[in-house]
Amino acid sequence: MLKNSMLAAVAITCSIVFVLSAEEPAPAVFTAAQAEAGRAAAMNTCAKCHTPSLEGRVGNPGENPPLSSLSAEFQKFVSNPARGQNAGKVPPLFGPVFMSHWEAKTTKELSTSVCGTAGAFFPGTDERTGLAITAYILQLNGAKPGSQELSMSTAVEIRSLAAH
Ligand code: HEC
Repeated sequence: MLKNSMLAAVAITCSIVFVLSAEEPAPAVFTAAQAEAGRAAAMNTCAKCHTPSLEGRVGNPGENPPLSSLSAEFQKFVSNPARGQNAGKVPPLFGPVFMSHWEAKTTKELSTSVCGTAGAFFPGTDERTGLAITAYILQLNGAKPGSQELSMSTAVEIRSLAAH
């Protein structure tokens, strides 16, 4: 009796493992080279405010680069008193807080936003660079690279990209 129920438990465990491993792999919507180019571009741009790790700022004095080293325009944007409690802070571009804002949106919405931000803060940034930065942000949030480049028409739900 005990032996039978143990066998049943083993059988159930095996079928659960089978179902999990048979799951569709997460889609891959950018290449490794694209994400690497995006990392390099982000270090010269977004990193000024979001910091090189892109984890953002909470307003601690040791944060790099120091806020005081940024252009007057950038400092004004970050420290604007109209931002209330968030004045002096910059949100992270990866992790649970970022994902809570973006997981239900598509890669197209993120690419559009990133290209807009890049163009506004760094005039002359081309679309290719904006897409590369988007690829890097997706990678930081758990997406895996593949053989296809991210393009402006790629529209995949962001939460579906993180490895299962
Ligand atoms: C001048 C400083 C500054 C620069 C440069 C900057 N950001 Fe930001 N970013 C901010 C601040 C401040 C916020 C929060 C805005 C708010 O609270 O409305 C923000 C918000 C964001 C958000 C929304 C985050 C969320 O949780 O939804 C994204 C995405 C983003 N930035 C991407 C970028 C990218 C990509 C770059 C580089 C191309 C960049 N930012 C450059 C200051 C900056």
